[in-house]
Amino acid sequence: MIEHCSALFFLQKIFKKGIDCPLVDRARLQLPRGKGTLHPGPAIDFQGPNIPCEQEVRAMLSERIMNLMNYQINQELVSAYLYLDFANYFNENGLKGFEHWYKVQAFEEIEHAEKFIEYMHDEGCAVRLSEIDKVEWSADGIEDVLARGLQHEMYVTKLIKDLYDEAENQYDTRTMRFLDWFINEQAEEETNAKDLIQNYENFGNGCSAGLYLLDHDLGKREG
Ligand SMILES: [Fe+2]
Repeated sequence: MIEHCSALFFLQKIFKKGIDCPLVDRARLQLPRGKGTLHPGPAIDFQGPNIPCEQEVRAMLSERIMNLMNYQINQELVSAYLYLDFANYFNENGLKGFEHWYKVQAFEEIEHAEKFIEYMHDEGCAVRLSEIDKVEWSADGIEDVLARGLQHEMYVTKLIKDLYDEAENQYDTRTMRFLDWFINEQAEEETNAKDLIQNYENFGNGCSAGLYLLDHDLGKREG
């Protein structure tokens, strides 16, 4: 309201000073007659273009984006399931720091799924949960598990990129903005997975003291 009045006041000034202003001409301004507390003058035609109400403007997600998002929710939960599997592996091998690290990771994946669910609901779309598949894997030692973690994150990055590309193709800027967070998150996830491998190679591989310290360090991850 204040901004509106300021704009009127400014335009009134232009009129009074007789400034040649094409914008004013185009708007065919008339200052208000007996309306409010503004200075007397020609009335302003408040009728602008026929702008639809917010609900009409609001864009629903396309069916393709909706399907990809429902799939993404499923894959985030698959990721959580996989990382819980990793956590169990490390527990059973006496590495409770690694176990803790992957448990935190699993809960992060559930949060990722929740973000998609919230976004879809905000857009008025139906969320359809499907079965959570178990990723079949067998580990040939710690390094193999860590490598599988990186491989999985690269796969999720590809899913997010495909989703982003689809949103871009459809000029769905709202979804593109929403996905920006996930693009950054995936870069971080891949870095974390690579760091784990590197730290294990540098300090833990073949060195029980180094592995003990690394496990202790991973156990401090905040969730
Ligand atoms: Fe994720």
